[in-house]
Amino acid sequence: MSKTACSTCASRRSFLASSGVALAGLAAAPALASLQGCGDDEGSSIPKLTADITVPLSSLPGISAAGADASFVDSSYPYKIIVRFNGNSQYQAWSSYCNHEGCEVDYVGTGFDCPCHGATWSAQGVLKNGPATEDLLEFKVAVTGDSLTISNA
Ligand code: FES
Repeated sequence: MSKTACSTCASRRSFLASSGVALAGLAAAPALASLQGCGDDEGSSIPKLTADITVPLSSLPGISAAGADASFVDSSYPYKIIVRFNGNSQYQAWSSYCNHEGCEVDYVGTGFDCPCHGATWSAQGVLKNGPATEDLLEFKVAVTGDSLTISNA
């Protein structure tokens, strides 16, 4: 799922540059607040789960080898969830949501890449290169029998 940027909205950076409010310090706060909700998602929070998700391991093909990843979608969450198996019954899961403009990132073996504008994250979801401005949202993962329960951390 991708999101199209608002063509009439200014990014915070361009807004600050054109208005000179970067030097105005606290006086800029109300003006910056007016940018919330714009198609440019810089600085917005990444959507959290509205409920725990249980996913059978059988629905994550290829994830049985340590280091392998898989992704899935659930009707309760608008973005795919990426799961990685670290061995010894240890899993990690992240939202694929890129906070730049809402594209979905991919796990590429050594980290995460956003296909839209090239942002990158480490294998732990820590932001390495923008234009995204936030780490990926990591979820808590519990193993229950042959299923994973994914919840907000
Ligand atoms: S949406 Fe622009 S870098 Fe991800």
